[in-house]
Amino acid sequence: MKIAILGTGMVGNALGTKLVQVGHEVTMGSRNANNAAAQNWASSLGERAHAATFRAAAAFGELVISCTGGMHSMEALESVGAEPLRNKILIDVSNPLQQDTDGSIILGFCNTDSLGERIQKAFPATRVVKALNTVNCEVMIEPTRVPGDHNLFICGNDAAAKKEVTKYLSEWFGWKAENIIDLGDLTASRGTEMMMPLWMRLFQGVIGHPHFNYHIVRGR
Ligand SMILES: NC(=O)c1ccc[n+]([C@@H]2O[C@H](COP(=O)([O-])OP(=O)(O)OC[C@H]3O[C@@H](n4cnc5c(N)ncnc54)[C@H](OP(=O)(O)O)[C@@H]3O)[C@@H](O)[C@H]2O)c1
Repeated sequence: MKIAILGTGMVGNALGTKLVQVGHEVTMGSRNANNAAAQNWASSLGERAHAATFRAAAAFGELVISCTGGMHSMEALESVGAEPLRNKILIDVSNPLQQDTDGSIILGFCNTDSLGERIQKAFPATRVVKALNTVNCEVMIEPTRVPGDHNLFICGNDAAAKKEVTKYLSEWFGWKAENIIDLGDLTASRGTEMMMPLWMRLFQGVIGHPHFNYHIVRGR
């Protein structure tokens, strides 16, 4: 499959590397076609890895993964435009985090709004699926880093797209389908994005490393 990764940070790197390793052809997009991180990433992985602008990467991909800094994702996607994203599945992995004046990490918008919804509203012909944003990128691509059963959350307005993404997450990264919880339409990304302040507190203040996850336990 041809896959576009929009983002040159640790998430883009982890997802892009794993996808090339399992046999896909991946283009990593950036604001600048000559972005050093993207070029180094591509040259380390051989002929199935490429670097390009956000727009050229999205045009290349049959499926697009958006993993830019969440307060900048709309700007990145606006530089792509609607056509290269038309009818494609876009997996949004980003969280709209920013630093508050006291240095703490907060959400730039939330509660009655979310990045997942903003993307879908701006690109109505794109099949937006919010997924993976509640786990560290090393756990995204290797869920067994966290022992036992634990959950991923998925949401989106297109049921067929969510089904396809669930299959990809199992095939690509080894997530058990029964551990992927479909939360319904994209308004659910308000909740999954708002899990981030709790995730940050667990990371920094309690667990001290990012290899943990949420496990939903159902009562009778
Ligand atoms: N780190 C994790 O394990 C983790 C886990 C779950 C979710 N997330 C979410 O995944 C996303 C990516 O995280 P990350 O740490 O890999 O990368 P990041 O440092 O948050 O973002 C890097 C990307 O954002 C782009 N960017 C920055 N400013 C921009 C602007 N003004 N306009 C357009 N694009 C801009 C950069 O473009 P250039 O390439 O041009 O520099 C780069 O591709 C974030 O939203 C984060 O919250 C992260």
